[in-house]
Amino acid sequence: MASEKPPVVVTCTAPVNIAVVKYWGKRDEELVLPINSSLSVTLHQDQLKATTTAAISKDFTEDRVWLNGTEEDIGLPRLQACLREIRCLARKHSSTEDGNSLPLSLSYKVHVASVNNFPTAAGLASSAAGYACLAYTLAQVYGVESELSEVARRGSGSACRSLYGGFVEWQMGERPDGKDSVARQVAPESHWPELRVLVLVVSAEKKQTGSTAGMQASVETSALLRFRAEAVVPARMAEITRCIRERDFQGFGQLTMKDSNQFHATCLDTFPPISYLNDTSRRIIHLVHRFNAHHGQTKVAYTFDAGPNAVIFTLDDTVDEFVAVVRHSFPPEGAGDKFLKGLPVKPVLLSNELKATLAVDPSPGSVRYIISTQVGPGPQMLDDPHLHLLGADGLPKPAA
Ligand code: DP6
Repeated sequence: MASEKPPVVVTCTAPVNIAVVKYWGKRDEELVLPINSSLSVTLHQDQLKATTTAAISKDFTEDRVWLNGTEEDIGLPRLQACLREIRCLARKHSSTEDGNSLPLSLSYKVHVASVNNFPTAAGLASSAAGYACLAYTLAQVYGVESELSEVARRGSGSACRSLYGGFVEWQMGERPDGKDSVARQVAPESHWPELRVLVLVVSAEKKQTGSTAGMQASVETSALLRFRAEAVVPARMAEITRCIRERDFQGFGQLTMKDSNQFHATCLDTFPPISYLNDTSRRIIHLVHRFNAHHGQTKVAYTFDAGPNAVIFTLDDTVDEFVAVVRHSFPPEGAGDKFLKGLPVKPVLLSNELKATLAVDPSPGSVRYIISTQVGPGPQMLDDPHLHLLGADGLPKPAA
């Protein structure tokens, strides 16, 4: 690349993923190596995504990163680890290509701007999408074509699963250097078109313990976590993979709920205990079980990460009825028309029999809104230069 050239600029998007077999606990903090394998569903970027622009130029004097318009501390160890890894891969790539001089671009500083299309305050896992997007975008700008699990993982463990669409496993690996701790697609997004996802954004009073600190405390103090990693997860990974391959919703839903419950049990087994679920989360859990009991089968399944929001899996023939059940149990406060975002849902009248089985004391406003979405593809590069988040000067464009 000639030094007279304007900055090389690339913009990409990456998805949020939600684990159905949870990652909780590291065996190596520095390399971000997990104590168990995990498996996730990639959510569609039409509803939830991170967008990142990276630019390299000989005119930049330092690496700089902006997140949702605010400049981040470039010294953050995780950012540094991602930048170091991608430059290391780029160096390897270029030396295998022609064996001699390094491309000039490798000595250039990089500017990065990243935004999420969903409020970070909603408490949705944004770091996975953000670091996957960073890894993918940096790879494009530096011309790296290799496997990016390690780059994304060094930012945030769960981010390596956002590098692929559909159903994705993160194999824990065995090597101390982590080279075999990688994400792999189990099935593409087209595999199970009937599968639908509802994110129930729950009102929460205060910030929870972050995942990094939380899992560290669990590794140090929870014997249940060790048991889970050694004796439960390996068989569960195999079984849920079978359920996905066979599109067996009953099996998939039951394992998803059991794994979420076991993860939260390990949090309670941590000393001092960690609680991510709140009263609304627990009400949602019981609502799902009563709904399934009413139908005599597992039609809906929940999972919760390190916060009180519920992610619900169901099939397209059940979405409308279950959303009506949520509205009935958690009547929207204020602007009811903003209660549902994303894919359309039809209104349905609930039968008196179902209302009686649910036996709920309505709790107005406890679910703030629902994002209705589906399984989606992995990261993508955007062609349209108008979509770059950095201007020709390498600084963030003012928000439109
Ligand atoms: C509960 O990937 O956020 O969402 O590697 O420390 O950044 P770090 O943790 P992170 O943990 C995610 C935990 C989880 C479960 C999961 O996504 O598998």
